[in-house]
Amino acid sequence: MRRPPAAGVETVNVMGRMDGKVALVTGAASGIGRATAVRFAREGAAVVSTDIDHEGGNETLSLVKQNGGRGIFLHHDVASEACWIDVIATTHAEFGGLHALINNAGIAISGDIVERSYESWRREQSINLDGVFFGVKHSIPLLARSGGGAVVNVSSVAGLVGNAGLAGYGASKGAVRLFTKAVALECAKARNHVRVNSVHPGVIDTPIWEKGSSGRAGGWAVQAVRKAHVAVVAQLGVPVGRAGQAEDVANGILFLASDEARYITGTELVIDGGLTAQ
Ligand SMILES: NC(=O)c1ccc[n+]([C@@H]2O[C@H](COP(=O)([O-])OP(=O)(O)OC[C@H]3O[C@@H](n4cnc5c(N)ncnc54)[C@H](O)[C@@H]3O)[C@@H](O)[C@H]2O)c1
Repeated sequence: MRRPPAAGVETVNVMGRMDGKVALVTGAASGIGRATAVRFAREGAAVVSTDIDHEGGNETLSLVKQNGGRGIFLHHDVASEACWIDVIATTHAEFGGLHALINNAGIAISGDIVERSYESWRREQSINLDGVFFGVKHSIPLLARSGGGAVVNVSSVAGLVGNAGLAGYGASKGAVRLFTKAVALECAKARNHVRVNSVHPGVIDTPIWEKGSSGRAGGWAVQAVRKAHVAVVAQLGVPVGRAGQAEDVANGILFLASDEARYITGTELVIDGGLTAQ
């Protein structure tokens, strides 16, 4: 039998931290996006998972449902403005609003800059930076109409410090960092109750490390791609001596998206095991 609370002690309802909220997570078929979709589902959100990878996206949708959440999976190339317009319209039609946008989809193309083609440069910028621009532009009106909400842009430690061999990636992620702050100020000025923040993961053990290398190797990050062995790099370069897990980043995203962060906007949350503290 549960004991009644002692006099003067506030009772706490066991509620999810995202109860009643609708969240849209891009790049949700894998890694950090999948972990975020599942974490949000556990906290009571209805989750719109989107990606170009349909197989992985549908697996994420199953996990969302297994974790007690409601949700849908939508095809979504974040580099396409037309796709964004469709995804936001479908989210509105299916769930009646939007309270959290997690701009997570991203790629990393490594290699020396003198060997990069303009085409591969544009591809990286169009997904990592244009995708965030389209997402913010097309979701803010719906977030505001839904009573306010939060945008969390997934940048990187590579958006804070330079990494040889990751110049294009760093350019896109550094731009996302300052774009985030500028939009946060626009929203604050508009008093639309939309908060905008960025997260900056370090070495996180996800499939991204097995993808997208072009040209000769540069710094520690590119060496990790070559060896396809993120754990080795983490042991050598990360102060806590290990790589982070996707869930470690999802927990930070959840905090920023939830009402617990109601006074936090225009800031950056670094989740890197001390990597950039050195
Ligand atoms: N893993 C790390 O160490 C690390 C570190 C810092 C930042 N990040 C960032 O975290 C985010 C997620 O990365 P991850 O590690 O989970 O990688 P991941 O490769 O596991 O997942 C990325 C997802 O994005 C999707 N995607 C790629 N291009 C897309 C497009 N055009 N439209 C829609 N979806 C697309 C992929 O299909 C994939 O499902 C990325 O923005 C990445 O840059 C990752």
